[in-house]
Parts: sequence; C-alpha cells; structure tokens
Amino acid sequence: MPQNSKNSALEAKELERSYKLADIVKQRQHTLATLALQPGEKVFDIGCGVGFLAHEMAFLVGKSGQVIGFDQNPQMIIHAKKRCEDLPQAEFYEGDAAQLPAEDQTLDAVSCTQVLLYVKDVPNVLSEMRRILKPGGRLVIVETDWRGVVLNCADDALTNKIFSAWDSTVPSPNLPVHLSPLLKKHGFSQIQVEAVPILNTEYTPSNFSYDMMKWITKNAVKQGVCNEAQRGIWLKELEERERTGSYFFCVNRFLFSAKI
Ligand SMILES: C[S@@+](CC[C@H](N)C(=O)[O-])C[C@H]1O[C@@H](n2cnc3c(N)ncnc32)[C@H](O)[C@@H]1O
Repeated sequence: MPQNSKNSALEAKELERSYKLADIVKQRQHTLATLALQPGEKVFDIGCGVGFLAHEMAFLVGKSGQVIGFDQNPQMIIHAKKRCEDLPQAEFYEGDAAQLPAEDQTLDAVSCTQVLLYVKDVPNVLSEMRRILKPGGRLVIVETDWRGVVLNCADDALTNKIFSAWDSTVPSPNLPVHLSPLLKKHGFSQIQVEAVPILNTEYTPSNFSYDMMKWITKNAVKQGVCNEAQRGIWLKELEERERTGSYFFCVNRFLFSAKI
C-alpha cells in the first residue's frame, strides 16, 4: 500500500476507535440535539469521517429523508459506507469541502464537526454551505480551540512548546474565536455558540486526552521540539499524576448553530 493510502487507512482506524469514546459520544449527542432533524429532511455532513454522526442522522431523517456524507479521505468513506450499509437513506462520497456536490438551496441542514480547522480557505466553505442550504436551513459547526488547553504539568516551558508545535500542524487551530463574524459575513443569522468542554481528571485510555497527549508529543518530536527521551519523561509525569490523583486536562470544543 502506498504511504499516503497507509496513512489514510490509519487515520480512519484511529477515528473508529477514538470517536467511540464517551467524551465524543456526548459531543455528538449535543450536535444532534441542536440540529433537531425531522423525518424526511435532507442533510449534508461535511468531513463525515467514519460516519458516526451520519449513522445517527439516518435514523432521525428516516427512509423518506436523505443523509449525504462527504470526506476527502477515501478510507473514511469505506468505513462510513460499511457502518450505514443497512440504511439506504445514507450515501457517502469522496471529495473536498471546497466544492460541495449539491445543487443550490437543496439542503435542510448541514453539519461540519471537527473539520474546518484542517481547511485552508474557511470563507469559501462557508459560502458553499450557504449556497446549498434552503432558505431557513440550519447549520451546525463544532470546532476545538487548541490554544485554550488546560493541563496540569510541571514543565510549563516544554508543554507550551509541545502545544505550539501542535497548533502549527493545522491552518486554523483557534477558529472558534473568529467564526461568529465570519458566519455573519457569509449571510448566516441566529448565530449561537455553546462551549462543549472535554474535561478529563483521569489519564486512562477511556478518556479523550490519553491518546491525544501521545499524538501531540509524537508531533513535537517530529517537529524537533523535543526528543524521544524528553517526550518519555513528559508522558511519565502524566502517568504519575494519574496515580496520585492530580491529572487535569481540559479543552473546549465550541458548537455553533446558525440559520440562513
Ligand atoms: C477529526 S475528523 C472528524 C470527522 C467527523 N466530522 C466527526 O466529527 O466524527 C476530520 C475529518 O475531516 C476530513 N477533512 C479534512 N479536511 C477536509 C476537506 N478539505 N474536505 C473534506 N473532508 C475533510 C478528514 O478526512 C477527517 O475525516
């Protein structure tokens, strides 16, 4: 398998595992409650990943509705199709969020969760979302502010460097602070935002931050911010904090809702 396909397959496998965690399930339920999908509605999930959200949406819109999931990673589409194989109202396509494969004003709702931080031209995607939504159509976006992480760690200097390196891996690491005015500029109204914190006071594999800390530090080593030995010491401290009951991690995801 070529390296790129290998990475894409690995990303899809990781998402299958990590997006089943209770922290993320809770966020998904919050997203669905805000979208308030009705039977018969047509909804588009941009950057659908392995299709967890689309799967739940398909039950809500029912057989008379339609869920279209869309992702740039073909491996995600394979997982999503498998997840929804018994749900003919769910369809999945590969492609880029920059060009949404839908006619003007044909969607009742659009969701885009944890995707825009990876997108280079966010205003263009917002224009596309607006284009495909019917008048009165609803939009839900979920994004993380990676600059607002709270972590109990002795080595503040190294921690800051590790998170700065993480920040630099995506075009929009703190999009939430810019999103409301951007949505307004692109013709959305009734814009509301809620914080959806991920708070972990235990450093265990069942919590979101457990794997995140490993990925974030792996990236720091890759970017030359620290070496493997320093990474090991930093991660060991988190394990020690788990043993002594002093582990504390919090990051906010922000759920935006808006209408046309
Ligand atoms: C963190 S995952 C979130 C998946 C899903 N939305 C969820 O919340 O479960 C980010 C997803 O966005 C997709 N993605 C990133 N940039 C994209 C783009 N420009 N167009 C389409 N999909 C994109 C990735 O392939 C990945 O599946």
